[in-house]
Amino acid sequence: MSRLIQLCIGIILVLIGLTGLVLYYTAGDFQFQGPMGMGRGMSGMMGGRGMMDGMMRGGGMMGDMMRNMEEIDRKTEFSSNGERIFFRGVNSKGEFIKNSHGMQGVGCAMCHGANAQGMQMMMMTDVPPLKWGYLTDPKGHTHANGRTHPSFTEPSFKSCVLAGIDPAGNELSTMMPRWQISNEDLDSLIEYLSK
Ligand code: HEC
Repeated sequence: MSRLIQLCIGIILVLIGLTGLVLYYTAGDFQFQGPMGMGRGMSGMMGGRGMMDGMMRGGGMMGDMMRNMEEIDRKTEFSSNGERIFFRGVNSKGEFIKNSHGMQGVGCAMCHGANAQGMQMMMMTDVPPLKWGYLTDPKGHTHANGRTHPSFTEPSFKSCVLAGIDPAGNELSTMMPRWQISNEDLDSLIEYLSK
């Protein structure tokens, strides 16, 4: 099994744990009905088809995350520095882009999706798309968790990636890593996301 897939399973387990905690603390009488399509993934596991199989077949959040990992794994050629950083968190000099989660070789695609169209990770937390046209939409954005901000500019995008502050000055959740990334690498990333 590739290390990336193992990492993904680790992250999914942590997320399930977190979701459980959130439910426990926020809603005593909440009915846990297999949200996010988890039910189907679970029945795959229980039905003796094996965990991976169940997850891959499952719809919803788990299936999407697994399919996304596969897509990232399959990608082995990169046509630009920005694309390599986006998929692998490694620049063209072979340097890991350090981040507050201590992840090595993990890029933006793991959470924001291989197509940069965003993903559903946990209830109430959307991982927003990163396409430049979306980020710079003049209307700005209101996210599922209520965070709202005007459109991004190059400088505000950079401070968001470096320090986790959005254009309205809101601090992002700690699920979004803070990245120690050079200005040059940020420029390559913007160039890639603008395509
Ligand atoms: C471990 C998961 C994860 C990874 C990896 C990740 N992000 Fe994020 N990112 C998030 C989450 C979750 C949010 C939403 C945070 C919130 O709403 O508080 C986010 C939000 C953002 C935002 C704010 C977008 C908006 O509309 O407000 C930007 C910009 C961003 N990420 C850029 C990046 C870049 C660039 C990379 C790669 C260098 C990256 N992220 C890697 C999880 C991740």
